[in-house]
Amino acid sequence: MKSIESVYIHIPFCSSICTYCDFSKMLYYEKFASSYLEALFDEVKGKYKGEEIKTIYIGGGTPSVLNLKDLKKLFEITKIFKLKKDYEFTIECNVNDINEEKLEIFKNNGINRISIGVQSFNSEILKKMNRFHTYEEVKQKIELINKFGIENINVDLIYAFPNTSIFDLKKDLEKVFSLKIKHISTYSLMIEPHTMLYIKKTKSISEDIDSEMYELIKKEMKKHGFIHYEVSNFCIPNYQSKHNLTYWNNLEYYGFGLGASGYIKNVRYTNTLSLDKYLSHKYVSEEEVLSKKDQMVYELILGMRKIDGINIKDFNKKFQTNLLENKIIQRLIKNDCLVIDDNYIKIPYNKIYTENDILKELLDYE
Ligand SMILES: C[S@@+](CC[C@H](N)C(=O)[O-])C[C@H]1O[C@@H](n2cnc3c(N)ncnc32)[C@H](O)[C@@H]1O
Ligand code: SF4
Repeated sequence: MKSIESVYIHIPFCSSICTYCDFSKMLYYEKFASSYLEALFDEVKGKYKGEEIKTIYIGGGTPSVLNLKDLKKLFEITKIFKLKKDYEFTIECNVNDINEEKLEIFKNNGINRISIGVQSFNSEILKKMNRFHTYEEVKQKIELINKFGIENINVDLIYAFPNTSIFDLKKDLEKVFSLKIKHISTYSLMIEPHTMLYIKKTKSISEDIDSEMYELIKKEMKKHGFIHYEVSNFCIPNYQSKHNLTYWNNLEYYGFGLGASGYIKNVRYTNTLSLDKYLSHKYVSEEEVLSKKDQMVYELILGMRKIDGINIKDFNKKFQTNLLENKIIQRLIKNDCLVIDDNYIKIPYNKIYTENDILKELLDYE
């Protein structure tokens, strides 16, 4: 088994709470943040075994909300990791937080990729999300990031917000392409329990419009030179997110922080969502020890999210099996739900939108 090469660090603080968000997050209070970072440091020191790390991803919440002192503290923690030469080190940022002082700290501490939660450029939609920025601000912040020598930038977009049209999406896409960034993640809005949208009984957009929007995104991305490499992810050639590929390739990784999950030595674990417990060093709340069947199911379900699918030889070698002799796989191939392309098995491109139905069938793989 390959040694661990990836680290996820969760910073759960946000300056305000978005109406759709169901992540592990809370409002930012500086006094909580200091104690949180201390507990985080102890978690890292207790678990990290000194492996050479290829990708670090600091996500949230909103890591960029931390004040300068806390950011420096955060990077004291990340200094502990031995990094490979070609490492990728990402931090998630909110548009409003990006400024010269913070970029200076990022740059001096090895950050070479920034992921910005833009979600939309439409002020009406942003207001309903409880997010506030303009296209001009996003553009200026991206120019500033580039000035600091960081050119690997991702923008997250959310589409299919209630009462939005194809026309609204087209305008958002035009704007995102004009930013000349390397990576775009697009997510169809999910109305999750415990969010403001859910509490207010907001109705989702129709399935037909949602699928039309997804098709438009695919078409426009291609037209603008973006490779579609995972269901929701597009990039300029060679700018795939190395960190997220760790997940889709079912490789092991450390997860540190409140509500973070990790995968170490065939155990998938999830950290507590309770700040009290986390601060008293009771980090892990759930552990799932994986059988060989579980590992194969994870490998299939995560791997099929990639547009290129799964390398059949690698799968067979890893699990000492023959994937193509499996009855479920054979049935899915017969029903045109999976196709073989060279050494890879994948979901046909025109069925990516309905992939969840196909993935469900793979849950019974053994
Ligand atoms: C881990 S989240 C947090 C990112 C960061 N805190 C921010 O908001 O900028 C990463 C992305 O998931 C997407 N996302 C979050 N909640 C969502 C939801 N309910 N439906 C669809 N996409 C969502 C957003 O695009 C978000 O930027
Ligand atoms: S979407 Fe991001 S910024 Fe908004 S509340 Fe969730 S974690 Fe915080």
